[in-house]
Amino acid sequence: MYYSLHVEVPEEAAELLQAVIDGTNPLGLEIRDHTLKPPPGAPPLKPGCVELKVYYEGAHEAEEAQHQVRAELPEAEPRVAPVEEEDWSETWKKHIRSVRVGRIWVGPSWQVEKAGDAPVHIVIDPGMAFGTGDHPTTEMCLAELDLELPCRPGASVLDVGTGSGVLAIAARKLGAGRVVGNDVDPVAVQIARENAEKNAVPELELTEKPLERLGGTFDLVVANIFANVLCQLAPRLAARTAKDGLLLLTGILATQAEEVQQAFEREGMKLQARRASGEWVLLTFDNRASA
Ligand SMILES: C[S@@+](CC[C@H](N)C(=O)[O-])C[C@H]1O[C@@H](n2cnc3c(N)ncnc32)[C@H](O)[C@@H]1O
Repeated sequence: MYYSLHVEVPEEAAELLQAVIDGTNPLGLEIRDHTLKPPPGAPPLKPGCVELKVYYEGAHEAEEAQHQVRAELPEAEPRVAPVEEEDWSETWKKHIRSVRVGRIWVGPSWQVEKAGDAPVHIVIDPGMAFGTGDHPTTEMCLAELDLELPCRPGASVLDVGTGSGVLAIAARKLGAGRVVGNDVDPVAVQIARENAEKNAVPELELTEKPLERLGGTFDLVVANIFANVLCQLAPRLAARTAKDGLLLLTGILATQAEEVQQAFEREGMKLQARRASGEWVLLTFDNRASA
């Protein structure tokens, strides 16, 4: 087990303290002064003071350093404490959040028990593809799919920029018929295929083919990609949206919404609804105007 030595001294004594510490064979140290925000839960520093947290291999080394600091800086009150060792391979998991959106629960495999009574479970473990469900843009798409698919049982769905496949999987589990997801990133497509298998929807068509090489039209098209890419893709996204179909677009910041709206109105799409979450916006267009 590692041990740490905490010492808080006035700024003018910091140099002397550093010199003492340098001679004690420390493993490493952290210095905190008033320019840095205190870490969560840490008490604020006394005005005009700096704090050193020095790490040692064992209790003996830390206590020896404590003794030397007391000898040189009698006013300092150095404290020795054991350092709790964290299992970092597990700690990162605490930051992964599962989400419940309407009937859908999305979360990692180690949180499945949190799914509760959600009728639709989607397990996505974090990996190299975007889309663990907890980004506001993904959440808004999930909410729209949950709302729209019951009115369109068996609807065909195209998920442009599928990432982890989360939206394509959700669409199928919510009653869609044919579901196609594409992504320009081959790693994402591979991960989306694995996720489709894990979530028992291997029938999803997941491909690296760009939009222009995907034929046909779809009752519901969803694209969560950056606004500039959406504007570039506007003619192709409009062409893939069936007559009377819906096009859901997000990845758009509130400040970019108007530009995106205009790009799609030029293609004959009609804005039907606008949803927002924080700084992000989702625009729903329908293809009725061009019918
Ligand atoms: C923000 S992620 C969305 C992932 C997932 N659909 C979601 O909503 O959580 C955007 C994805 O779009 C892909 N992408 C970017 N440009 C694309 C394009 N022109 N065609 C298809 N996919 C694209 C990226 O590789 C990335 O995986």
